[in-house]
Amino acid sequence: MELDMERIPKHIAIIMDGNGRWAKKRFLPRLAGHKAGSETLREIIETCGELGVQHLTVYAFSTENWGRPDEEITGLFNLLRGYLNTEIETMDREGIRINAIGDLTGLPEDLRKQIAAAMEKTKIHSKLQLNIALNYGGRDELLKAVQQIASEVRDGTMALSSVTEETIDAHLFTKGIPDPELLIRTSGELRLSNFLLWQLAYSEFYFTDVFWPDFKRNELINAIKEYQNRKRRFGKL
Ligand code: FPP
Repeated sequence: MELDMERIPKHIAIIMDGNGRWAKKRFLPRLAGHKAGSETLREIIETCGELGVQHLTVYAFSTENWGRPDEEITGLFNLLRGYLNTEIETMDREGIRINAIGDLTGLPEDLRKQIAAAMEKTKIHSKLQLNIALNYGGRDELLKAVQQIASEVRDGTMALSSVTEETIDAHLFTKGIPDPELLIRTSGELRLSNFLLWQLAYSEFYFTDVFWPDFKRNELINAIKEYQNRKRRFGKL
């Protein structure tokens, strides 16, 4: 089957899983798996740009990842620092807008500043938006939305009767971003793990046993082909 260029999903979300197992299989430290994973991410961003995907949202660090050893957490943040440093020029040149979703207040100060600078530098772009989920949790996001909406209702700036699904959308980290049509999770795990709980309500799910570092261009194309083979019904007939 050929890829139908007229039916490329506008928004793809990815749980980049299996870096650790990829490394273990090669008798390498876990961080080498994350490093290889960041190289895969570069290739997937490039491919999304070529295919005309408008939003790519990747799970880089979850609210649960704080439970990993300090060394791995520090390593992941260092990788992200290096990645932003080396990739920012290319992304700017290629028309890619960088965005971060999640509770950024929980991140190291310098990383937060670096992210803010990358977002500022690339905010003029609209070809492809890369949404990096950092210190992100779907329940945390919904909880914050509920708290904010409740306080607006309490203060009288919003009527309870005017709270709609759109109100909730507008209070999420993904405000203004269309819902993903396709969610991909690599490495054979069949879970959502607190990723985009609200936004994925009608998305197609694609699971593959391939570990994230091996999820290259062709793997993405296969996932999109499978998505194109499915009938999306949104509960209708
Ligand atoms: C899951 O693999 C992956 C992560 C927790 C981090 C994702 C990070 C990257 C792909 C690289 C860094 C990203 C950027 C933006 C530079 P795992 O460690 O849970 O793998 P395992 O389940 O095999 O142990």
